[in-house]
Amino acid sequence: MDGARLSTCLWGKRVALGVTGSIAAYKAISLLRALKREGAVVSVVMTQAATKFVTPLTFEVLSGTRVATDLFEAHEEMAHLTIPEQVDVVLVAPATANFLAKAALGLADDVLTTMLLSTRCPVVVAPAMDGDMWIHPTVVHHVQTLKARGVVVLEPEVGPLASGQVAQGRLCGEAKILAAVDAALAAQCDWHDQVVLVSAGPTQEPIDPVRFLSNRSSGKMGYAIAEAARARGAEVILVSGPSFLNSPPGVTTIRVNTAAEMADALCRNFRACTVLIMAAAVADFRPKDEAEHKIKKQGKVEMVLELESTTDILAMLSAQRTSQIVVGFAAETEQVLSHAQDKLRAKGLDLIVANDVTQEGGGFGSDDNAAVILSATGEQRALGLMPKRRLADEILTAVRELCLGGPRRECVTE
Ligand code: CTP
Repeated sequence: MDGARLSTCLWGKRVALGVTGSIAAYKAISLLRALKREGAVVSVVMTQAATKFVTPLTFEVLSGTRVATDLFEAHEEMAHLTIPEQVDVVLVAPATANFLAKAALGLADDVLTTMLLSTRCPVVVAPAMDGDMWIHPTVVHHVQTLKARGVVVLEPEVGPLASGQVAQGRLCGEAKILAAVDAALAAQCDWHDQVVLVSAGPTQEPIDPVRFLSNRSSGKMGYAIAEAARARGAEVILVSGPSFLNSPPGVTTIRVNTAAEMADALCRNFRACTVLIMAAAVADFRPKDEAEHKIKKQGKVEMVLELESTTDILAMLSAQRTSQIVVGFAAETEQVLSHAQDKLRAKGLDLIVANDVTQEGGGFGSDDNAAVILSATGEQRALGLMPKRRLADEILTAVRELCLGGPRRECVTE
């Protein structure tokens, strides 16, 4: 088991931290650490001027990812920062007068300003500059422009500045910045009132100490759902069959091997959950007897393995539910919708996510998937081929809207 629930919306969120060329750039180091402490995944973007004050290496070591500094340098971090859905919030701290001007005008001559134009997520900026600059009509005008566009601009504080002046221009306090980022993310915390139990991956049913029966599931879909639910504020318990994937941050992960172990782990946690999402590809049959020692060929040319059925975990839990919402998956290769509809009914589900595992570009092991969501009340929602992480969000939105009574927009920050 790992991970604990935090009361903020920052947990699991992807924060792009922009650092511009102010003497206060060193304060972004402490800010980065604080964001990480709150469970955020932070990517740092520095302007060239910022690199004169603090080296990118410092941020690289502390963030654990490459720092984006050059628009013409191609690396993974750069690529994801310019894809709108890959960032949940942009925080620019410290923000110089030069940055405010470029952002207000929509200039895009470096990584940070380019990213600002491509993203649609909330943006928080914390300016820091000399007092005379902060009150200059040009800066005032740019700040007004940014605020009118929905950017959260945190007023700098009054105090001694690098110039020797005592005036308004100091980067505002860390707690205030974190609270502003948290508040900006609140709208994305619509699952904060839910405890979600997710299953993922295949199961392995042992034949003997070296062999087992299993299937092609990678666990990617279930892990993506666990990650998305956590990022939207839910408390998440993930029961995972064998998978090479790492536990998503902030998610309590229980690892199992067999269908029986999965059933046991899910049963133990079902009562406490509010939503069960059964994405695991559970074996339907297991060898009747597990051989104590490795089965030998001994010149045989044929071998018959006797199998017995496993428990249908989803059907069993659905029958035991008190108030839980129960969501299943249907992995099909033909007549996808009618098979899914049958399972929805037979297992007494609220929702089923049907997918054709033979489709090109989707299915087992792939990073993408397409699905059709069917509800017990007759709604049908087709979701085209998209990354599994995005599909996970679409599934959660459908569960929220179709089963949990629509969106909840406020976030608990007790
Ligand atoms: N499931 C389960 N326990 C099982 C088998 C399946 O809980 N022993 C769940 C899966 O996690 C999934 C749903 O039931 O959410 C449908 O699984 P799927 O493999 O698509 O169908 P089955 O019910 O196993 O039926 P079939 O193999 O005949 O398609």
